[in-house]
Parts: sequence; C-alpha cells; structure tokens
Amino acid sequence: MAFELAENQPVYEVTNLGFSYDGQTPALEAIDMIVHPHEILAIVGSNGSGKSTLLKILDGLYFPTGDTVKAFGQILSEQAFRDDVFNFEFRKRVGFIFQDSDVQLFMPSVWDEIAFGPLQLGVEKQEIVSRVERALNELNIAKLRDRAPHQLSGGEKKLVALASVVSLAPEVWLMDEPSAGLDPRSASWLKGFISAQAQAKKTVVISTHDLSLVEAVANRVYVMDENHRVIAEGSPEVILSDRSLLIQANLCVNK
Ligand SMILES: Nc1ncnc2c1ncn2[C@@H]1O[C@H](COP(=O)(O)OP(=O)(O)OP(=O)(O)O)[C@@H](O)[C@H]1O
Ligand SMILES: [Mg+2]
Repeated sequence: MAFELAENQPVYEVTNLGFSYDGQTPALEAIDMIVHPHEILAIVGSNGSGKSTLLKILDGLYFPTGDTVKAFGQILSEQAFRDDVFNFEFRKRVGFIFQDSDVQLFMPSVWDEIAFGPLQLGVEKQEIVSRVERALNELNIAKLRDRAPHQLSGGEKKLVALASVVSLAPEVWLMDEPSAGLDPRSASWLKGFISAQAQAKKTVVISTHDLSLVEAVANRVYVMDENHRVIAEGSPEVILSDRSLLIQANLCVNK
C-alpha cells in the first residue's frame, strides 16, 4: 500500500467520527477535526469527554467503523494496519505519549525503554546509542538510566515516556496530558520542546487540561464537552478568553 504524505495535505482528517467502547455508551459523537501539517493543536475538555479515546484512534489503537479517520490521506482501519509496510511507516511517523505512563513503560531499564522504539524501526546500533544518550540528556534523566521504569515516580515515568518518543524522532506527536505530574522545571522544558517541534516542521496534537500549556504552545484549539462532542474550535486567544465556553467544558469554575 502506498503511504505518501503529499505537501499541504492534512495530517489527519476526521469526519463525523463516533465511537463507543461497548457498542452502546458513546465515547465520541460526530467529531469533525482536521490536523494540519506543522501545527500544534490542543484538544481540551472535561473529564470523560473523549480526548484520550480520540488520540488513541489517531494512533491506530482503536478503530471506528467506516472511513471516518484518515492519516496522511489513508484510511486508518484494522485492515490497513495488517499491512506490514503501512504499519511500519505509520509507527515510524507517529509517536504517542499515553496519559498513563504505566501503560507505556514495560522494559527492564530506562535505557532499554528509550532504545526500544528505534530498535524496532531497525535504526543502526551506533545511531540508537547516540539517540538514547541525547534523549537522556535532553530530558535531564541521565541519572535514571539503569533504573527500572516501574519503580520511578509519576513525573519521572512521564519524562522517560517522553524520552522514549524523543528517541523515535516522529513526524507527528500525539501527547495525552503531557504536562500532568511534571514539576515546573520539566513543564517549562516541555513547553520549549513542543514549540521547537513545530519549528522543526513536526506536527503536535496535545490533549490537556493545562490551559497554561495551551496558551504557551498551541496554534489552534478544539474544545470537547461531557456529551463527547466538539463544541468549539479556534485560536487559543479566542478560546481562552471565552469564559462561558471554558465553564461549559469544566475548564474553569463558575464563581
Ligand atoms: N477502556 C474503556 N472501556 C469503556 N469505556 C471507556 C474506556 N475508556 C474510556 N471510556 C469511556 O469513554 C469516555 C471517554 O473517555 P476518555 O478517557 O476518552 O476521556 P478523556 O476526555 O480523556 O477524560 P480525562 O480528561 O479524564 O482524561 C468516558 O465516558 C469513559 O468512561
Ligand atoms: Mg484522558
């Protein structure tokens, strides 16, 4: 299957996407969304609105019925991922940070964890070593290199999860609550890192409740509500200054 990203084609096109885990209770309702190349897109919304579900679908971890989700112009379906070339190309291009780092981390040491992605992609050994060292230094976690990921603190796990995708150097980052649990220094690093990704012509989709992160890095924002729908789309300036919208999406308190 050809897997070409033409210039100026949307990275993702989501059309009237609905999704339910049990076939009855909706997790997503009639979602229309576009992700443009080289933008930083934030998805914000209340607990349970469907942000994580949407990101997992964009990562090809769950599949909706029909042809409602396209990545790089190709329909994301279970069948498409059975094609080894498609699967390999997609996994090379798209990196995912899970909301829950415990789901992401499974290797015996931090070093192995960060090396795993490039190893799977067949990156040459010396290049893997240098990518891992660079990621350890960039995230300031070199001292954790021999630790077992499952024994780390929540914030340390998040940094290792980020490093394990940094070493992959994907074109598209899907980040589910990337700043959750980070201390101010790491959160500040994250903001700089995300901005640098867009400057390096990468695309970043973030799901977050952290409006300071949205304000600092996002080019565009979608807002979701408790009914699992997109209720607004716009620039961070417009969205973040719309108090009644933020209240509706549980992103600020009506006091
Ligand atoms: N594995 C699952 N099985 C069944 N239902 C699920 C599962 N994961 C999520 N849901 C349901 O799907 C809906 C959307 O959940 P999702 O995790 O996508 O929301 P979210 O916007 O990421 O929330 P949060 O802000 O709390 O992370 C919720 O109603 C949730 O209860
Ligand atoms: Mg979530």
